[in-house]
Amino acid sequence: MSENKKTDRTSGPRRALITGASTGLGRDIALAMARAGYNLALTSRDIGRLDEVMAHPDLKDVTAVPIALELKSEDSIEQGFKAAVRGLGGLDVLVNNAARTLLKPAVEVTWEEWDDVVNGNLKGAYFLSCRFARHCMDEDRGGAIINIASTHGMTGFAGRSVYGTSKGGMIQMTRMLGVEWAEQNICVNAIAPTLVLTESRAEMHKDPAQRARMLARIPMGRCPEPSEISDGVLYLAGPGAISITGHTLVIDGGLTVI
Ligand SMILES: NC(=O)c1ccc[n+]([C@@H]2O[C@H](COP(=O)([O-])OP(=O)(O)OC[C@H]3O[C@@H](n4cnc5c(N)ncnc54)[C@H](OP(=O)(O)O)[C@@H]3O)[C@@H](O)[C@H]2O)c1
Repeated sequence: MSENKKTDRTSGPRRALITGASTGLGRDIALAMARAGYNLALTSRDIGRLDEVMAHPDLKDVTAVPIALELKSEDSIEQGFKAAVRGLGGLDVLVNNAARTLLKPAVEVTWEEWDDVVNGNLKGAYFLSCRFARHCMDEDRGGAIINIASTHGMTGFAGRSVYGTSKGGMIQMTRMLGVEWAEQNICVNAIAPTLVLTESRAEMHKDPAQRARMLARIPMGRCPEPSEISDGVLYLAGPGAISITGHTLVIDGGLTVI
């Protein structure tokens, strides 16, 4: 057991809030955390979209609560957060996974599209993180925030300027909040994956020539599996990572190294 309740990540059950858990990486992270024994609050903008994951056999031995949450709404964040705390009796981990992407030449992006992407991906994650940190401080215990960023927040890429800007902001937010809340033992870290062929991304990269061009940029010549991202989340949320904060774990087959 660690020295105090602020750094103890071994006594359970541990409780995690995961945004955007109806599909893709959020769903995979939810199932992996359930297998590791976490009780879960899972969010979607449309609560019915969580039915499939809520009924998954991997969730049968843990408490899981579905939560409606729209990251562009202050009120929805507050109500969703309160429902998660009510449902699980408190929270130890926040996974800021939900986001949307936008593939469009910069000169064609509208004000509305900018607001939609940046306010959901970055502003919403920021204020949800603050709400979570306030909860940890009120309970006088530490916590772990894991932000799912992207290599698009670290390198240039044509056609994804708004999305990449939101993810670059998220990586810097990780450093800023990691330092600001270090004394309270609220660790803030990020994971930056390259392309992972979740349902939405497989659809976007269905052209084999375009997919081959993408793979050719990755020194290891492969896309990470969703489980590699979930493993990163489990590590950063777990007892082995209590001294890690402000860090971005890049899972990219060497893409950003060259
Ligand atoms: N897959 C990749 O190649 C890849 C690579 C790098 C980083 N990432 C990051 O990994 C995360 C998950 O990616 P993914 O491929 O699993 O994406 P995904 O399948 O599109 O899932 C993301 C989910 O986020 C939720 N969401 C979107 N906007 C929201 C908003 N304003 N408020 C609340 N929820 C919202 C949506 O769920 P509902 O419709 O149910 O609300 C959506 O299904 C994202 O942060 C993404 O940027 C993905």
